[in-house]
Amino acid sequence: MRTLARRLTTILLLAPVALIAAIVVNGSLSAFAQPAAVKAPATLVTQGRAVFRDDTFGDEAFWGGALQLHKAIEGQKLGGVGPGVSPKTALAVGLKVDAARIPAKTAAAIKAGKVDLNDPATTLALLKLNAVVGVKGTFDRSGRHLTALGITCALCHSTVDSSFAPGIGKRLDGRPNRDLNVGAIVSLSPNLQPVTSLLGVDTATVKKVLASWGPGRFDAELFMDGKAFRPDGKSAATLIPPAYGLAGVNLHTFTGWGSVTYWNAFVANLEMHGQGDFSDARLNDAKKFPIAAKAGFAHVTHTRDLVTSKLPALHVYQLSLLAPKPPKGSFDAAAAGRGKAVFDGAGKCASCHMAPIFTEPGWNLHTPAEICTDAFQADRSPTGMYRTTPLRGLWEHAKGGYYHDGRYKTLGDVVAHYDTCMSLGLNAGQQSDLVQYLKSL
Ligand code: HEC
Ligand code: HEC
Repeated sequence: MRTLARRLTTILLLAPVALIAAIVVNGSLSAFAQPAAVKAPATLVTQGRAVFRDDTFGDEAFWGGALQLHKAIEGQKLGGVGPGVSPKTALAVGLKVDAARIPAKTAAAIKAGKVDLNDPATTLALLKLNAVVGVKGTFDRSGRHLTALGITCALCHSTVDSSFAPGIGKRLDGRPNRDLNVGAIVSLSPNLQPVTSLLGVDTATVKKVLASWGPGRFDAELFMDGKAFRPDGKSAATLIPPAYGLAGVNLHTFTGWGSVTYWNAFVANLEMHGQGDFSDARLNDAKKFPIAAKAGFAHVTHTRDLVTSKLPALHVYQLSLLAPKPPKGSFDAAAAGRGKAVFDGAGKCASCHMAPIFTEPGWNLHTPAEICTDAFQADRSPTGMYRTTPLRGLWEHAKGGYYHDGRYKTLGDVVAHYDTCMSLGLNAGQQSDLVQYLKSL
């Protein structure tokens, strides 16, 4: 008995020592306390990058199986329908090509003008190389025919540096593709019935809505509330935001739906139509979200969940994407220095956009009235609010304008708006200095 008690005492005394040893060996508590499926951060970044770039979460069942988009890309001549999509057309609707995935020989042939960029067969070849950013083709045994098509996060949230040719170059993850005409691409689908039946409208109406979006825009709330147009008749779509510079930011999306990982799950399941499990009881609100409530989006399950196991890595990768630094000479440094003083002082900007994350540490939502704006988009979110946008990398996404719907064409327009809204009384010099500071972030 005594020996057993002594042994127990020894074990109890040594347990904390073993724990500390494990922490020291692993460098952190996380490796000790987390389930085996969750790997070390460095591994998660690499895994998350692969998910972000190349994982469709099984959404081929929607884009290929239901919408038959692959047939429109292939074209009638190659076994699909319609004229097909040539690389020229694909680049014109804003799709990007990752030059790193084109073998040197093919690249040389393109440079020498020996590749027909007007032929849909070339698009198929690029898809086979997995070189079209964010689009994944599935081929039959012969390798010549597309049997399905899927999309990944990179479709909207990556672009390229055009170092090879316009629209072809080095991949830049996290940068919003403000050239991408999602509406025009979806509109190519030979079968829009899955969308018409979800929204309860006819094909002509769906096409009108898709045509209203334009480049760099998408409407993530349409499948929830069915609201395609604002009261002023303009499209209800928002700009595609950057997916960089988000670490340390509490709530995400323009209207603060949730955290990064919340939104990743939301998008993978409800927008991309991947096959996973998703839960958010707020979508049962049939008054706010009639489409989502009817479709049962508040609680989605699949026999094989192709999303949830990828969320940890995708989350870490998202947070690892830093905002790109402004290029040398893209702003006036002296003016930016003076502008910082305006931002922190007379402009009162720093009361919401707090450095270094440039949103509020903590609760980062505001009523539409606080920023003198309309409530339309805020009211399409469970929050009824707008999220203070983290401002780093503003220089990079000037295309399409600023604020959730791009209503301000330039940073100068944004500053003028605040000057009126908050009766700041900033003179022209202060306003232009402030713009230079914003460009320097
Ligand atoms: C079809 C285009 C499209 C695809 C594909 C897409 N997104 Fe988005 N993403 C958007 C739009 C549009 C918004 C803005 C939504 C809103 O605010 O209502 C957004 C918002 C976000 C945000 C919030 C950014 C912020 O400032 O808080 C994150 C994070 C994000 N997406 C990550 C992802 C990830 C990860 C994937 C893949 C699972 C993905 N997105 C797929 C278009 C897309
Ligand atoms: C009350 C909090 C608050 C204050 C004060 C404030 N902002 Fe904002 N800011 C916001 C919110 C919320 C948004 C998102 C609006 C939207 O997307 O519709 C925003 C958006 C922006 C954007 C657009 C970012 C983008 O990528 O579209 C810029 C630029 C900006 N603010 C700069 C400023 C400047 C400069 C000041 C000071 C003159 C300022 N803000 C003061 C809350 C604030």
